Parts: sequence; structure tokens; C-alpha cells
Amino acid sequence: SKVALAFSGGLDTTVCVPLLEEEYEHDEVIGVTVDVGQPAEEFDEAEETAEALDLEHYVVDAKDAFADQCLDAVKANATYQGYPLGTALARPVIAEAILEVAEENDCDAIAHGCTGKGNDQLRFEAVWRESDLEVIAPVRELGLTREWEMEYADEKDLPVEGGNEGDWSIDTNLWSRSAEGADLEDPGYVPPEDIYEWTDTPGQKNVETVEITFEEGKPVAVDGEEMPAVQLIEYLNDLAGSHGVGRTDMMEDRMLGLKVRENYEHPAATTLLNAHEALEGLVLTEEERAFKKQVDQQWAEKAYEGLLSAPLVDALDGFVDTTQEKVTGTVTVKFEGGQARPVGRESDYAVYSESAASFNTESVDGIAQSDATGVAKYHGFQSRLANEVAANAEAK
Ligand code: ARG
Ligand code: SIN
Repeated sequence: SKVALAFSGGLDTTVCVPLLEEEYEHDEVIGVTVDVGQPAEEFDEAEETAEALDLEHYVVDAKDAFADQCLDAVKANATYQGYPLGTALARPVIAEAILEVAEENDCDAIAHGCTGKGNDQLRFEAVWRESDLEVIAPVRELGLTREWEMEYADEKDLPVEGGNEGDWSIDTNLWSRSAEGADLEDPGYVPPEDIYEWTDTPGQKNVETVEITFEEGKPVAVDGEEMPAVQLIEYLNDLAGSHGVGRTDMMEDRMLGLKVRENYEHPAATTLLNAHEALEGLVLTEEERAFKKQVDQQWAEKAYEGLLSAPLVDALDGFVDTTQEKVTGTVTVKFEGGQARPVGRESDYAVYSESAASFNTESVDGIAQSDATGVAKYHGFQSRLANEVAANAEAK
């Protein structure tokens, strides 16, 4: 029987290859690596490791699909506990691609190298369990630790460069780079600069601005130059990253209830999310903005869970898409001090009247400043009354 394994060439997935044969009696294992914008070295590593293991290896390009997913997430301002969702957005895309390869190759089973402590096991399996394939999670099911894996790799002479992948467990895609594990597991440990690969130390480069153009909530151009999704994200990762934009160091509450120390880099995501929110601030009404906050929050939670296929999300998307019809315009963002700060915005849909808001005009549309006197008299009326009643009752 045959099993398709989500394969990165890292320690976890490398030890899974012989274990699937030994412990699960699958005589044939195929490895699948899905391209969601990891750096070229990662594919080289996966390919070399596969070759050394004599593993039949497939690489599937899902970059465009993933880039579209990222830009859809911008419409919903998708963040979780303050950081732009990255790994969570990629997992379902990866899972779908692997499932396709598994089905094309008549596999009976499908496997991942995630631990039983994290979110990724849940996100992969939510997709895979829609199929009839057996789902296998060797690291979780056999209770493996990284220490055990390193010893096993050593014993079996498996191709795992020293078995430490630079100590940290890294997950990279087009939208974000995550580092966790090893020293970083101590919440008090201050990470050295060299955990960062996408962002330079902030404050070393001269301040710079860019103009981001949105069409119906989707970023389509930088400084007037139209770019396809993948290229636009890569361009901004480079540029904003060179200004040290988009670092997060946090305690994350995972789905299983564990708190984990996470480090993320996400320069393009930070830039685009900030710009997008700035444009929404110009074109959406106050009540649309307030309600959208709740919709966005729900959307992000389902995304975090890897459950964007939930019927709820279709309904949320209906609201999001309707609001985004007006999110067309341009935002100027300044890269300064490690921040991507919106400093200018314009749109044909701006719900803004300069003459109404200006201190230099006396009356607008027949409404004079003095008309606000009645409003000011009533403002806080109920609170004043309630406080007075309470004071009197206490005095009795
Ligand atoms: N905890 C994060 C999430 O659930 C990132 C996990 C990334 N994995 C890694 N091995 N660095 O999205
Ligand atoms: C893992 O535990 O396998 C990686 C981290 C995560 O899934 O959250």
C-alpha cells in the first residue's frame, strides 16, 4: 500500500519516511513538497534529502493560489492576536495540493510530520478527512520528541544536516516566516538578531514612502506599477523588510489551549494590512467599520483554525465583499523606525467633506456651528440623571 507524505526535508518529515515503512507497513512512500513561496534553498534541501532517502518526490506549485489567498485575507484585515496570519493561511492550500497528488497516485493513506501539540495537525487533517484516505501522523502517534528523532536519524544514517536546522523550527511562505522552538521556548529569552532573515535591523535605512493602490480591497499596484499578486508581495517583502518592518515576538494561544512563544516576520503583510485599514477608514461609514471589526475577527478565527471552508465564512465573505466595493484608492505608506505608517490616503469613495469638517468654514448644507448647541446640551443627559438619582438614593 502507498502513502503520500507532506515532505519538507526537515527533521520531522525525514524521520517519517522510514517510520511509515517500519511502523505502519506502507511499502511505498511518496513525498510531496508544495511551493507556497518558500526560499529556493528549501526546495534544494527537500530534493537532496528525497534523493538520499530514495524517496519518490513531487513538487507542486501553489504560489499563485496562495498569493490570492493572502490578498483575500487583506480584505478581512486578517490578524490573530495582533500578527498577520501566515502559516494558518498556507496549510489548507498545502493540504489540498497534497491530497490531489495522493489521489492521482492511488494512495491509500496520507501523512504529515506535525506534533500533537500544535495547530498544523488540525489544519491539515480538516482538509484530508474530507477524503476516504487514512490519515497518519507519525510524530504524534508514536510520541516522538526532537531529541529522539535526532538519535534515530543518526542511527539510521538519515540525511539530516546535523539534525538541527539551525536549532529553530522555521515555517516560511510568501506571506510570513515563523521561528519557534529551542531557545525561543523560554518566553524570557531575548532572541539574537540572527533569528531574522526577512527583516534588517530597523532604523538603518533612510526613510522612504510607497504608494499602494487598491481595487475593491485588493492591492494591485505599488508606486503606480501594476503587479501580479506573487510579485507584489515579494516586492514589498524586500522593500519593507529592508526597513525592518514586520516583526512580531509574542505569546500565542494555540487551539489546544497551550501558550507558545512565537516569532514572526511579515513585512509585506504589515504594509498591506496597514494601508488597507487606512483606506477603509476613509471610505467606510462608522457603523460599517464597527460591524466589520466583528466580521473580520470571526473571519480570522476561522482562518486560524484552518477552516475557511466553513459555511460561516461564505456568509462573512458576502459582507466583506460588499464593503470592499468601495475600497478603491491609493494609500501612501512611510517606512520609518521599523513601522509602515499610512501618511496619506485618497479615494473617489471618500466619505469625507473637507468643508464640513474644516475649522475654517462656518456653515455647511445649511447647518451652522451653533446648531450643535442643542446636541451638546443633551449629550450625557442620561448619565447625569443616573448619577444624580444614585446620589440622592444614597443620601436617604
Ligand atoms: N503557531 C503558528 C501557527 O499556528 C506557526 C506555526 C509554524 N510552525 C513552525 N514550525 N514554525 O500559525
Ligand atoms: C507543530 O507543532 O507541528 C508545529 C507548530 C504548530 O502546528 O502550531
